[in-house]
Amino acid sequence: MNVIQTKNYQDMSEKATQFILDKIKSKSTFKLGLATGGTPVTTYQNLIQDHQKNHTSYQHVTTFNLDEYIGLSNENPNSYHFYMNKHLFRHIDIPANQTFIPNGLATDLEKECVDYDKLIDEHDGIDLQILGLGHNGHIGFNEPGTPFDKQTHIVTLAESTVEANARFFDSIDDVPTQAITMGIGSIMKSKEILLLVSGKEKHEALHKLLHGDVDQQFPASILQRHKNVTIIADEDAIMEK
Ligand code: GLP
Repeated sequence: MNVIQTKNYQDMSEKATQFILDKIKSKSTFKLGLATGGTPVTTYQNLIQDHQKNHTSYQHVTTFNLDEYIGLSNENPNSYHFYMNKHLFRHIDIPANQTFIPNGLATDLEKECVDYDKLIDEHDGIDLQILGLGHNGHIGFNEPGTPFDKQTHIVTLAESTVEANARFFDSIDDVPTQAITMGIGSIMKSKEILLLVSGKEKHEALHKLLHGDVDQQFPASILQRHKNVTIIADEDAIMEK
């Protein structure tokens, strides 16, 4: 794993933006895997600014999001559909039919999962998958204990994840308890992975990822086995304070 250390969150976001832009511009069709959460927000803002200033086009880009809550409508401000529109899609020139997010309102959720993996395969896989890191080592919504070979599936969120994400909701009772997530097997098929980590509350998780064993109880540890991973992390996340 290639680790890039940055001074702070701002700097991490700038490095991530440049990293993503270089990749997108290097190919005539590009499949980008996207993450939500707090960590990539400024990276997305930077991509928007770059689009406005330098007119970088996304017409050749297709995106696949990692996950979505079950039971929230696309108009619900806490759904990842809403998040992606707000933080990226509606500000760039990506065609709407080239952005994919699991449908947490599908009548047949099992089929939705199978279809999502098929869709990614039909597009010849993801060129670059952006990831954030959960406090308990989750990636996407793959909680500790998830088998490493799982494809897209339905998950019940760990209590700590519901608590961590409650900050985005009016009340913790409003946080959905289930989600659809690309599995670790699906994520590991990506040709390249970019993991973004910021803040001292992620220090322990990042330390475990960099120095611990590969262990299903710590989902992100599987990234040690991927041949093309870059981690951009700020000082607070990397250093013991
Ligand atoms: C959330 C999301 C993940 C995200 C992670 C970290 O639960 N499902 O995709 O990467 O947890 O979130 P944050 O960046 O807000 O710390």
